[in-house]
Order: sequence, then C-alpha cells, then structure tokens
Amino acid sequence: MYFKQFLDERCGCASYLVASRVTHEAAVIDPALDIAPYADLLRQRDFRLRYVIDTHVHADHVSGARALAAATGAELCLHAGANVAYPFRPLHDGEDLPLGTLRLHVLHTPGHRPELISILIVNPERSPEPSMVLTGDSLLVGDVGRPDFGGGDPAAQYDSITRLLRLPDWVAVFPGHFEGPCGKGMCGRPSTTIGFERLFNPLLRLERPEFVANLSETVPARPLNLTAIESTNRGVADLPWAMLTTTTSIPEIEVDELARLGPDVAVLDVREPSEFAQGHVPGALNVPQADLASRLADVPRDRPLALICQAGARSLRAAQFLAQAGFRDLVSVRGGTGAWIAAGRPVERDATGEPAVAVVETEWAHAGGHTVSA
Ligand SMILES: [Fe+2]
Repeated sequence: MYFKQFLDERCGCASYLVASRVTHEAAVIDPALDIAPYADLLRQRDFRLRYVIDTHVHADHVSGARALAAATGAELCLHAGANVAYPFRPLHDGEDLPLGTLRLHVLHTPGHRPELISILIVNPERSPEPSMVLTGDSLLVGDVGRPDFGGGDPAAQYDSITRLLRLPDWVAVFPGHFEGPCGKGMCGRPSTTIGFERLFNPLLRLERPEFVANLSETVPARPLNLTAIESTNRGVADLPWAMLTTTTSIPEIEVDELARLGPDVAVLDVREPSEFAQGHVPGALNVPQADLASRLADVPRDRPLALICQAGARSLRAAQFLAQAGFRDLVSVRGGTGAWIAAGRPVERDATGEPAVAVVETEWAHAGGHTVSA
C-alpha cells in the first residue's frame, strides 16, 4: 500500500492519499481547497483516483473534495446523512470500499457532526485486521472534536469514541486536524495510536456524564467565518474567499487610544453574542467572527474600524480577514474588552447579560499556526 499524510499549516488540517501499489487505485480523504498537491502526486505515482471522501461537512475550512472529484472523475463520497446540495455517493456504516488490494471500511462516528465517518484501512495481504483509522474530527490526538460546529452531539461523540476505542491498541490513528479550532486541547502531533489514546487522552478517562458535561459546558468561540465556510461546503453558498489565506500585519492600539478616538472609529466586537451581552465598549457593533464573511454588509465602511474581542487574538485574525476582503483603515485593540474593563472604562450590558454557556478563551490565533490564549 501507499499512504501519505498532507498537513496544512494554515488551517491545522490533515488530509490523506491512500493507494494500492498493485492496481494503482487511490483515494483522497478530506482534501484541502488547493488540490494541486494531490493532482501532482497522482501524476508522479501514476495513480488513478477512484474515491474522494470527505469525512464530514467541514465548518472551519473550505473542502477541495468537489473540485478534486471533478478534475479526476473520481467518485465523491460522504456519509449518506450528509445534508449537501450536490450529488455524491452515499456511504453507510459497515460498508467496505474496495481499493485494489486494500479495503476502506466505513464507520459512522457522529458527534462532531452528525454525518461524520471514520475510515478503517485494511490491507489483507498483511493482516485481516485494520492497521490504521482515519478519524476525521471524532478522535483527535489528546482530544476529541468539538460538538458545536452544526448538528453535533456530545453524547453521540461519547458513543463514537467508545466504539473506536474497541479497536486493537496497535491501530494507528490519523485525525482530520493536528491543530486548529476543531478541538479544545489537541496535543499537536499529527498521529497517535488507539492504545496510547486509551491510556493518556484525558477526555477518554471520563465517564459518560462527565464527558458530555465537558463538551457541553464550555465551548471555545466558533471559528472565523464558520457560517460561510459550512454553507460553501454544503453547496448552498459559494464563498471560498471566506477562508483566511493572507496574514496581513494589522496595527494594534491600546484601550486608552481607543477611548481617545471616540466616534471617529467604528468599534466592531467579534465575540459571541453571549459574551457581548455581558459587557462591551459603548456603541460597539457585534458581528461574531463566525458570521463575519456572511455579514460583511453589516460592517461599516464610512469610518476606520477598530476590532475588539475578549483579549485581542480573535480581533487580530478578524482584522486580517477584513484586510483580505478589501477593507482598509483597520486596527485591533490589544488586550480586548478584558483590558478595557480592567482600565475602568465604561461598559454597556444587555439586561439579560448572563451567557448560557461559558466561552473558553483559547483560540486559533492566526494563519501562522499557533494556538494562543485570547
Ligand atoms: Fe471538522
């Protein structure tokens, strides 16, 4: 067999090409938007692409699956339950996809998203047992996928992870992410084993109620442009530019300077509505980063913009996206609303200002590839 992992530093995603060296049939799993690396490899190795599989409808990055399938004539495959607006081959739990001398065995492992599948790779010439599992955003290295990306379910995630943990210890785990916003505490390694995760993944030591509580009670902020990206991947919108691909240098200002600028700048608060309701700079406009690309028409264009979040990382990245989208005169407020409040500045609050769930402030900081506290 042939197996290659592709790591995308911009979005923390992992994608895979697996092929039979005997028949030269290949499958690509979770391709990135730039399909050139897969096309190049297929050509160099003289592989024929038979399947393009998205393990789920992604909400944090735009998939290249449709483009790759169209360019190669491969079958585009998703779980039968995927709610998308384009034709695909529906996959079912327990199904085997033959790939030359190999078998791709489909496991339905919902939780992060309802349609998420994991794929066991079996090479019968070596063993009747699977040697690898591609887990999408179910089991991650040191973590599991978040359930708040659209239709997810912490209890389903517990059941899916429990099912994966019944695999033998030696099975190598290759996830859909090695970093990025799809988890809360990924280790950073691009692969692991079932045995190691069973022993050392902190979430897998929890009983079901604690596991569900952990995934339900504190959720990180939804990632930048989630709404536009998920709609694009479902085929109901065409907004591939919603992915942040350029890392523009954005000036940062202190909260004192923001106070001095007054109404000369429009303050755009990119936190979740629950955070905004708890306290924000007076007069600020709330467009959560997850909805920014979908709501560009709501972003003022008549004045310079000061972007603000809780501690300064989300606003920086949102400003980079607005710069990519053609906005000028952008600054980001260093230290965010936390610094504004700490400086004793006035805040506005909604009357109902208690959030339903606490928002964790660890987030994916910028396209350069670090996870920082924000
Ligand atoms: Fe995902």
